[in-house]
Amino acid sequence: MKYDFSFQNATKIYFGKDSLNNLEAELNNYGKNILLAYGGGSIKRNGIYDKVIAILNKCNKNVIECSGILPNPALSKMLEGAKLVRENNVDLILAVGGGSVVDCAKGISVASHYEGDDVFQRYWVDCAPLGDHKLVPVASVLTMVGTGSEMNGGSVISDTVNKIKNGRVFPPIVYPKFSILNPEFTYTVPKYQMVSGVFDIMSHLMEQYFSGDDDNTSDYLIEGIYKNVIRAVKIAIEDPTNYEARSNIMWDATVALNQLVACSKTQDWEVHMIEHQLSAYTDCAHGMGLCAISMPYYRYIYKFGLHKFVRFAKEIWKVDATGKTDEQVALEGIDCMEKFAKECGMVTTLKELGATKEMLPDIANSCILGGGYKEVTHEEILEILKNCYE
Ligand code: NZQ
Ligand code: ZN
Repeated sequence: MKYDFSFQNATKIYFGKDSLNNLEAELNNYGKNILLAYGGGSIKRNGIYDKVIAILNKCNKNVIECSGILPNPALSKMLEGAKLVRENNVDLILAVGGGSVVDCAKGISVASHYEGDDVFQRYWVDCAPLGDHKLVPVASVLTMVGTGSEMNGGSVISDTVNKIKNGRVFPPIVYPKFSILNPEFTYTVPKYQMVSGVFDIMSHLMEQYFSGDDDNTSDYLIEGIYKNVIRAVKIAIEDPTNYEARSNIMWDATVALNQLVACSKTQDWEVHMIEHQLSAYTDCAHGMGLCAISMPYYRYIYKFGLHKFVRFAKEIWKVDATGKTDEQVALEGIDCMEKFAKECGMVTTLKELGATKEMLPDIANSCILGGGYKEVTHEEILEILKNCYE
């Protein structure tokens, strides 16, 4: 562990089949007015909405609903929620859904008592430190896994008018106060969304892994989580109600992005920066966008961090290095990842995600620049995008 770090995680987790039983006691710690934030209706179809409402009613809460928070949550929706919080003097924002709903709930918390009409510019674009305005506590009941939003300060919001999707990592005060993780609640997630979430987990792990040249505990943790997730997803695809596989994937997702495996890592995150702008133009599923971009991105940067890509190939994908150069081993590792992604039904071309060739320069030029082993330019991003177009 070469570099100093601080680590704090403010979220309390309730995990397991009976975890929703803890909601009642938690709700008693908050005032009467609850904003119930949820998505496009899956929680009504699978019965989670009824279960949560029954507990809210038992606790005599006044429930204000903010529904229709769609994937890649929009700034306009976040501001609509913030208005509801102000008008109803909300005491707790309870997000019931996937990463989009949880991210939007955090955004609502930050925006609701902010004075001014530049909240997105200030906190998501300029990343200014939070002011001293009131923040409304957030909590979550998670129904779809991948983002890790249930146990971190991340909030990714899309300004659909100006085509900007920006993520912000807020300090612990914006983390969910508690999150309820019942793997059974993910049984109804369609396969497309499930495998998209799985690639999101893989990408979070790789964004942290592919950086630095030290012998770091975080890298060993990452390898273990990565191996577990690629094993468990195969089981969950065959048997969507396999509790053990679903619960492993759920916890893998949480620990992949709750800051634990970021300790002492310099990190990359450029695949995410590119995906955010891809989503801003196409509204694609986050994990699928990451999958398509990752293959050409890693084939481009591997030579700048060759030792780590060789380790990735050997440790994760069990590539036999006998008689091969380091370059061959590293590239074989990326080939194995691509083969695995295709077998799972993940998307590997931008065309399938709704991008047109004409969009590519605008997507490339609007990306925030960064990188791990290599800082990329807008021109290099355009080449990477062209290499996964079709
Ligand atoms: O809207 P509903 O009807 O609920 O349907 C959702 C949505 O269509 C559906 N779904 C969720 N739970 C379900 C279910 N369908 C059936 N049964 C269930 N139990 O799944 C669809 C996708 O949901 P969404 O919340 O959009 O997915 P995800 O969790 O992948 O979230 C993606 C968003 O999170 C951001 C992404 O950029 C994207 O905007 N991220 C947030 C991060 C963070 N907070 O740290 C980090 C990530 O890297 C990511 O950027
Ligand atoms: Zn992600």
